[in-house]
Amino acid sequence: MNISILYATLTGYSESVAMDLSGILKDMGWEVTMTDVTQLAKPHAPLEGNIIFGCSTYGDGDLNDIAEEFIESLRSAKLDLSHANMAIFALGESIYPDFCGAGQLAKEAFESLNAQVIEPIMSIDTLELDQEKKKQDLLSWATHITTAFDV
Ligand SMILES: Cc1cc2nc3c(=O)[nH]c(=O)nc-3n(C[C@H](O)[C@H](O)[C@H](O)COP(=O)(O)O)c2cc1C
Repeated sequence: MNISILYATLTGYSESVAMDLSGILKDMGWEVTMTDVTQLAKPHAPLEGNIIFGCSTYGDGDLNDIAEEFIESLRSAKLDLSHANMAIFALGESIYPDFCGAGQLAKEAFESLNAQVIEPIMSIDTLELDQEKKKQDLLSWATHITTAFDV
């Protein structure tokens, strides 16, 4: 019953979502570890099991630089993620034309390394001020993805 949350953040919002998610998952009975991808040892230990990856969107609907570097390091190490059961959340602001575009890019990158990615990707709008709605959205997404996780 383990879940590893990996996050790549520039200004801390993705970390704060990771913390909220961790609390929700622990309440559901999962054991959760949270790791900033910049703290992962390189070359990476095999990534396997239940993994939630979260990052923000920058540029023109791009992965943030830290997420980009992380994914690039997985690619150059030619890691095989076929034993990783993944879910993805992406942060962004709904004023941008490519809202939360990083989520789809991360999905494509992980799938190209053979990971299983559970749909849907969760898009989180930093401009959403309704904290209760944010919490409910996270809770229903967490409830959904965990049905596809290995126990
Ligand atoms: C220069 C810049 C470009 C951005 N580009 C996008 C974008 O294309 N799409 C989007 O949805 N959000 C975009 N954002 C919003 C960020 O993703 C958002 O502020 C996010 O909460 C930051 O999360 P972090 O602190 O985890 O890095 C951009 C923000 C900045 C400052």
